Amino acid sequence: MSTDQTLYAPEDQIAETQSLLRDALGKYEPGRIAISFSGAEDVVLIDLVASMGLSAAVFSLDTGRLHAQTYEFIERVRKHYDISIELLSPNPKALGQLVKDKGLFSFYEDGHGECCGIRKIAPLRSKLGTLDAWITGQRRDQSVTRTDVPLRQVDTAFSTSEHSIEKYNPLANWSASQIWHYIRDFEVPYNALHDEGYTSIGCQPCTRATGPHQHERAGRWWWEEETQKECGLHHQNVISIKTLPN
Ligand code: ADX
Ligand code: SF4
Repeated sequence: MSTDQTLYAPEDQIAETQSLLRDALGKYEPGRIAISFSGAEDVVLIDLVASMGLSAAVFSLDTGRLHAQTYEFIERVRKHYDISIELLSPNPKALGQLVKDKGLFSFYEDGHGECCGIRKIAPLRSKLGTLDAWITGQRRDQSVTRTDVPLRQVDTAFSTSEHSIEKYNPLANWSASQIWHYIRDFEVPYNALHDEGYTSIGCQPCTRATGPHQHERAGRWWWEEETQKECGLHHQNVISIKTLPN
């Protein structure tokens, strides 16, 4: 493997990421830490855990609006790694009320906050209530809101005074190129949408393919401001970031 730091994931970087994942998974009881898998290139987290012969709980927020290709991919990952993937659904009552009041596409008119709140944030908050730590695939090169994302942090958005939650971002230092070289080099399964020009993948009505030289998240909530492109899962990125000492 090449040692070009910007393009490839060098062996020492892979080893460092594996080490962080091993420490995180060793620190908590198996049911108290989980990977939050979006059904996109963050599959690398699942592969890195499997490559060490370890296992981790994995969950996905099934908003009900994911692309068919994403559902197919989640199923492929489940079979490929022989793992369980817990799918978290929105509260039907809250969702029913939103759809009754504002229809299925209100986010184009008044922003994605309300719909994401019901379809993603509430189910995540409820899941995190059962965990002490979660692992995300956030990277610093993904967005102007993520340039300071640390490898681990106290999750100030979801912790409460009674229950502190730690958030691991093991891929924070990885570039998009390094992720993709890893996927190619280790023949990691990936979402078919990536071959159709999708660089970042979220819900179907809020994601579109990106053109040449567009930033990877240009296709997410394209009708909104760059600085608002956090749905609340990582709301901390737009407030303040509190890092843990190593
Ligand atoms: S988002 O907040 O804008 O949707 P993004 O798609 O960049 O996030 O993904 C960053 C990380 O957030 C993913 O690597 C994953 O850990 C988590 N994430 C995003 N969407 C989901 C989802 N639907 N289910 C579970 N985790 C998710
Ligand atoms: Fe709703 Fe779009 Fe947010 Fe998905 S990304 S939860 S469809 S606003």
